[in-house]
Amino acid sequence: MKILVINGPNLNMLGIREPGIYGAQTFEALEAQIRAWAQELSLDVDLYQSNVEGFIVDRIQAAYQKYDGIVINPAAYTHTSVAILDALKAVAIPTIEVHLSDINQREKFRQFSYISLYAKETICGLGFEGYHVALEHFAEKRFVGPEIV
Ligand code: DQA
Repeated sequence: MKILVINGPNLNMLGIREPGIYGAQTFEALEAQIRAWAQELSLDVDLYQSNVEGFIVDRIQAAYQKYDGIVINPAAYTHTSVAILDALKAVAIPTIEVHLSDINQREKFRQFSYISLYAKETICGLGFEGYHVALEHFAEKRFVGPEIV
């Protein structure tokens, strides 16, 4: 099972960026952890990070018919990006949204997610472990097959 994990803007700054909210571990540590979890779960994983909205849209489009699932932390684009929502709907790949922090307990502007309008599930507030839970969902084949909403 092929899974694409996408991380959005400023997540490459993990470890430096607001450690009180996002923790002290680096982005490299997150990627290493995701690869290790994927291996344990026998998932074939590709990782992508970009700070640029259009590049994320391009990567989602390139995933069309190539992946069984997408795990995405769209970071700040969560709250603004109709373009990322539309790209996910276009490729119709089952998607799980992940946030390190609990966006529902933060500022009002973080409490709305465009991506949640498409995602099968949104996992927030578990830190790195949220990506593990998302991968487990796919490994357990909870969301198999494309579905257009
Ligand atoms: C985030 C939450 C977003 O509101 C924020 O803009 C981020 C990270 C999270 O993982 O908690 O960059 O997606």
